[in-house]
This record gives sequence, C-alpha cells and structure tokens, in this order.
Amino acid sequence: MTTRAPVEAAPGTSVAPRRHVLDLDDFSASEIHVLLDSAEAMREVLGRSIKKVPSLRGKVVVTLFLEPSTRTRVSFEQAGKMLSADVINVGETGSSAEKGESLLNTALTLQAMRADLIVLRHPHSGAPYFLARHLTSTAVVNAGDGMHAHPTQALLDLMTMRRHLGSLEGAKVVIVGDVLHSRVARSNAFGLAASGASVVLCGPPTMMPLDLLRPGGTPSLPNVTLEPDLDAAIEDADVVMTLRLQAERQAAGMLPSLREYTRRWQVNEARMSRAKPGALLMHPGPMNEGVEIASSLAHGGSSQIEEQVTNGVALRMALLYQLLTGTEERP
Ligand code: CP
Repeated sequence: MTTRAPVEAAPGTSVAPRRHVLDLDDFSASEIHVLLDSAEAMREVLGRSIKKVPSLRGKVVVTLFLEPSTRTRVSFEQAGKMLSADVINVGETGSSAEKGESLLNTALTLQAMRADLIVLRHPHSGAPYFLARHLTSTAVVNAGDGMHAHPTQALLDLMTMRRHLGSLEGAKVVIVGDVLHSRVARSNAFGLAASGASVVLCGPPTMMPLDLLRPGGTPSLPNVTLEPDLDAAIEDADVVMTLRLQAERQAAGMLPSLREYTRRWQVNEARMSRAKPGALLMHPGPMNEGVEIASSLAHGGSSQIEEQVTNGVALRMALLYQLLTGTEERP
C-alpha cells in the first residue's frame, strides 16, 4: 500500500510527493512551478528523433475514459509510452462497464491487476475523488470529471502561457464563453490565481460560475473578476482563452440564440486587436470554428492551439513521472 500523504507543498521549497491529482485547488505556486519546469525537460525528449526514455519501465498506466476524448486520452497514452510505461486503454464500449459494472468495481479490478495509476475521464463530477478514496495502491489522475475539473488541461495551459510570457505573475488572462459548465475554466481559475495572474471571466450572465462566486456575485478567488462585455474584458489582455460552446446549452434556454452568442462573445480579429500586441489566443479544444472562435484566428499567428496540444504531452509526461517515481527530477 502506498503511504505517501496527499501534498501541501511547503512555500519556497521543493514539493512533497502527491499521490493523486484531482484538481488544482490544492496546488501551490511552487508545486505548479516545479511541475512546469519538469514538463520543459520533457519537451526536450519530445524533440528527439527517438522519443523514448526508460524512466517508467515496469509501471502500468490505465486510461479509463468513460466519455469521449481525443487530446487528453491520446496524449496520456503517448506520454506513458514515451516514458516506457505499459499503457492500457479502457473505454466504455468493449469493457464490462457496458454490462453495467460499477465504476468502483472496474477500478478495483484494475487495481487487482496491479495498475499503478488510473487516468479517469468520467461524465460525473467527483468520480475521481470517489476512486481516490477507495483505491489503496493505485493512483488516480482526473482527466475531466463532469463540469467540475480538468487539472491536466489547466496545467498544460499554464505551461503554454509561461513559455511565452516568461512568468504568469501579473498576466491578464481572459476566459470567454460557457464558464459555468467548463471544467477547463474552473481548473484554470485555480491555477492562474495561485500563479499570480489576474483572471477575467467573460460570457453570458447565465453561464457564470456560481461556485466560484460569493453570495452577491463577488468572485471568491483572488484576482478573479467578471466582465460580461467581451470588448471591455479583452482590453490589454495578455491571453485570451475561448471555450467550446456546448450546443445543448441553447436547447436548455441558457442562450438567446447561437447568432446572438456569436455576435457578443465570439473571439474575432477585431476583438483580438484590443488585446496587447502579441497576445496569445488559446482554446482547449475541440473547437466550434465560426461560433466561439473565428476560423481565421483559430489558424492564425496568435493561435496557440496546436502548441497547447504539444505541451499537453510534455506536461502529462512530467506528471506521470512525478506521481510514479515520487520525484520531480528529470529522466
Ligand atoms: N481539451 C480536451 O479535454 O480535449 P479532449 O476532449 O479531446 O480530450
């Protein structure tokens, strides 16, 4: 049984080993910093012609994805394989989940097979916490749970910003769109606040994150503000992150119409010109081009979207390495 305690990184020191990664709300600035430094070293491995090191030989990683994914699942698989771990992919179809096996029994089965780590994507908020409470020897990484959290997406976003800006301290980051239902926005808000960035949440008032607000509507995190007007929000931004609009929100009556949403909250060339010169445009993907983001921008010079994907592999390598070896040292 693993006896390593959940982590609180002591300020100004290296970080203590962490057993699970469930969200960024308990990450300190120093823990984020150390992890991003390690991910930078992993990017160097990614640039080699032979992209494989033996660091995790003998370790078993299972990706258990009970919701669709391209970027997160493939990059975890690639990250594990590049570190020489054995990576086994389990999805909803083709597994006993299809026959009604519970999440806990599936996870206990994988643990009994001596999986060292389960990467879980699940439609229900809190599912990775549930597994972390019940598994005794297998680590859990949250790869997106319902509308709650997506910590590795936020970490790769922080990495992308830090690579370009040098530091996140004092950076202005605008997150635009359906913040209420976005696990990416929530995890980013925690990671950015811990890193000293100022965060502006922008979108339809019906899509603001009530759990990040105090009664009365004041944001509960330091340096987080709300601004429903995108033209005002984007002024002098260092980073503009737009989120996928989930079509079902319109059906649920949370939007006046898709046309109205696009008119008021699409990030386009005219709006980006209000941000700082050289500002970064980000999107976690998958995108609805022409809805939340203009196609010309999605594939234009300010777009970091493919860079985010590449950084995602390096970041997940660093995370797997740290969780499975208990150290942030480079391979
Ligand atoms: N950003 C993200 O989580 O994408 P996938 O759903 O493709 O993994």
